[in-house]
Amino acid sequence: MKVNGETVSVPAAWREASLLTFLRDHLGLTGTKFGCGGGFCGACTVHLDGQAAFSCLVPVSAVDGHSIVTIEGLGSADSLDPVQQAWKECSVPQCGYCQPGQIMKAAAFLDENPSPSEAEVRQAMSSNLCRCGTYARIRKAVLRAAELRGFRA
Ligand code: FES
Repeated sequence: MKVNGETVSVPAAWREASLLTFLRDHLGLTGTKFGCGGGFCGACTVHLDGQAAFSCLVPVSAVDGHSIVTIEGLGSADSLDPVQQAWKECSVPQCGYCQPGQIMKAAAFLDENPSPSEAEVRQAMSSNLCRCGTYARIRKAVLRAAELRGFRA
């Protein structure tokens, strides 16, 4: 598979692991978080072939030949993705734990819907929980990211 643009092979011992565990414990990509482990919270969201996916639910063996992007691959400190830039401008995080998953979900959503309404943002982001309740700032940041992406296009 490709992870953040690099070709990665999976040792036999890891083939039964979840993609989340493989990313964190084998590749050391700890930006992707373990929340519920059961597909309920979205903390583990990555991009699988450009779509948001809960990596806790995906067996490594199912992603042979596919492309994964994690929060580490979305942007860099020198060149933030517009979603990361918007998150910074809107001071979204509180504890921060769920935020990589929120950002990955927002980026995939904006790829599908570059100019969403607030209601569409609310609906799309309902898959990702935030125990600090930063939902209003998340919605504001997604709309700001849409603007930033528009400026870049
Ligand atoms: Fe994957 Fe909660 S850790 S959805």
